[in-house]
Amino acid sequence: MKFKGSENYVATQDLMLAVNASITLKRPLLVKGEPGTGKTMLAEEVAEALGVPLLQWHIKSTTKAQQGLYEYDAVSRLRDSQLSDIDGGERVKDINNYIVKGVLWQAFMADKPVALLIDEIDKADIEFPNDLLRELDRMEFYCYETRELIRAKHRPLVFITSNNEKELPDAFLRRCFFHYIKFPDAETMKRIVDVHFPTLKKDLLSAAMKTFYDVRNLPGLKKKPSTSELLDWLKLLVAEDIPLEALQSTDSKVSVPPLVGALLKNEQDTTLFEKLVFMNQRNR
Ligand SMILES: Nc1ncnc2c1ncn2[C@@H]1O[C@H](COP(=O)(O)OP(=O)(O)O)[C@@H](O)[C@H]1O
Ligand SMILES: [Mg+2]
Repeated sequence: MKFKGSENYVATQDLMLAVNASITLKRPLLVKGEPGTGKTMLAEEVAEALGVPLLQWHIKSTTKAQQGLYEYDAVSRLRDSQLSDIDGGERVKDINNYIVKGVLWQAFMADKPVALLIDEIDKADIEFPNDLLRELDRMEFYCYETRELIRAKHRPLVFITSNNEKELPDAFLRRCFFHYIKFPDAETMKRIVDVHFPTLKKDLLSAAMKTFYDVRNLPGLKKKPSTSELLDWLKLLVAEDIPLEALQSTDSKVSVPPLVGALLKNEQDTTLFEKLVFMNQRNR
């Protein structure tokens, strides 16, 4: 199994190397990077390219590690026991009927190799990564209710993403192969845009990219726009049929680009940007 990039996804050389390294090492691939730099999409594309199903686990602040393994639904069992005349109480007797399998269990039980995405692990509390160490390392866990050891038939290909909101514990990091998706340079960004808008006019793209990188490089921005914001913005420019001139600042006029709300997502950043444009106008 080797990942060589895909039609829908622009993977840089070092990203492909990282994916293949984690496959060779049989360790989870930990992908960090700004939001919108293609971390989630990477897992989807690698799974697709390698022809394996992808099981996804999206982490929230309330997610517990145990939920990825299994949960025992005691409430349903109690309710069924009170209505036990339904099927002679057969269902209630077997505890297996009340074990709700989590994504890890499903991945371990799959007959064919699968890929497993643990998305935005930094959303969970600090104990979460530590609670999954053994499961991800040994690819097994014990179900106390049914007294069985659940062991992976095939080691799943594990992707873990993080937006860097929290540091991850050292013991966890030791077990992963790490890759940071750097913000794409202009060349890579052009390739990414090309995947999404193959028919976009060259001059419109150049003007839009210039504005985009200007906005991104503004010092003091609270939230820099990323790849997905650029794509949204381009989509709007095309849909609204915005003329090229609206993006190019002529000598007499520097203006806020149209639909800037796709790029800047809070009022401080918009104000900062407007101020700069205003100052530029006065300096001319
Ligand atoms: N390398 C890339 N190639 C193609 N599209 C990309 C790439 N990186 C980002 N995108 C686009 O940006 C969007 C956001 O990507 P996503 O994987 O959700 O980001 P993240 O998970 O890092 O926040 C994707 O839906 C895709 O359209
Ligand atoms: Mg994501």
